[in-house]
Amino acid sequence: MIYLDNGATTFPKPDCVYDAVDRYNRTSAVNAGRGAYRAAREATAMVREVKQDLISLCDARGQAEVVLTPSVTVALNQIIQGLFWNEGDVCYVSPYEHNAVLRPLRLMEKRFGIRVLQLPLREDLSIDLEETERLFVGAPPKLVCVTAVSNVTGYVLPAREVFTIAKAHGALTLLDAAQAMGLVRMQFPRLKADFIAFAGHKTLYAPFGIGGFLIRNGIDLKPLLAGGNGIRSEDPEMPRHMPEKMECASMDSPAIRGLQASLAWLRTVDPWQKESELTQYLLQRLEALPEITIYCAPPNAPQAGVVSINLEGFRANEVAAILDRENDIAVRAGHHCAGLIHTHLKNKVYDGCLRISLGFFNTKEDIDALIAGLSSIDRNVLKNIDNNILRGNC
Ligand code: ALA
Repeated sequence: MIYLDNGATTFPKPDCVYDAVDRYNRTSAVNAGRGAYRAAREATAMVREVKQDLISLCDARGQAEVVLTPSVTVALNQIIQGLFWNEGDVCYVSPYEHNAVLRPLRLMEKRFGIRVLQLPLREDLSIDLEETERLFVGAPPKLVCVTAVSNVTGYVLPAREVFTIAKAHGALTLLDAAQAMGLVRMQFPRLKADFIAFAGHKTLYAPFGIGGFLIRNGIDLKPLLAGGNGIRSEDPEMPRHMPEKMECASMDSPAIRGLQASLAWLRTVDPWQKESELTQYLLQRLEALPEITIYCAPPNAPQAGVVSINLEGFRANEVAAILDRENDIAVRAGHHCAGLIHTHLKNKVYDGCLRISLGFFNTKEDIDALIAGLSSIDRNVLKNIDNNILRGNC
């Protein structure tokens, strides 16, 4: 398989991650935060070290705590549902947000009567900062949510600029770094984010099962979940302090050990450089194809290794199904759980788009194989493909 779906999850992981998880599972996988015997103390210490590594990665020492969760979606729900909402509160989202942000906000709209508004885009689909300022004057935000990198076009959004405006209007700020942490440099003090949510299994190259968020010191949230975490077990209530008030249930310590290994690996490589070179090559080769529409970052904006396309005369899912069947190439087509931006991309006739998402372990040869597959695409193949596959996961 030629894997070009790193936006969904990076694959493969570095060998050191597999080795670390396997070794940990065989020798040390006891429950962290419970028990005072040596192995339990070591598991607890390992979790604490990983949190410190994440704080270091974001230059957030002394400014933020880390909450670990089973996934970034859980993290975003804990933040969004944990805020103290009042009827009429306004939340702005970039049109590039993922459903992991949009759907919890939809719950808050229905439950509390908050208003969710979109940040404005310019013609080239970049965030319009001047218009953003005007909107905030008219309807001041309580929360502003920006994804660090679009999982559809690879646009690296101007989060710091948006958050600087948001802070001038007294808003809380949430960065969804699911597609970015470990890839894009994040400096907590400059970023003006109150929350940074991350997914272990994407650009951090860790296994599934671990995500979380950084939360600025002094900010409070209501716990969304409650349960045991080994702290003051005789108390029927969750601890009152961060981060423990947001953490319950047994942690996936093997996944956390994998994250520790991937964070160490990330300190030795430059995924941004690697992805940028591959992405430039991909764009160059795509641009030479006839009858193709390319959806990428706006001109002059940084471009991560995610690019989407459509081919004239085909639905996006049809192209993905043909590439899979004929070339063993794995790509994701449809709407990528990010419905808003597709309206702006005007790709309804294609039923979304076909996403090519690169990772550290891709090569130019993978891209050459994709281009060869796209160049020789043949409608006749569709007859042999199951309709369920053609409908695909949108
Ligand atoms: N959010 C992941 C993606 O973009 C799953 O494919």
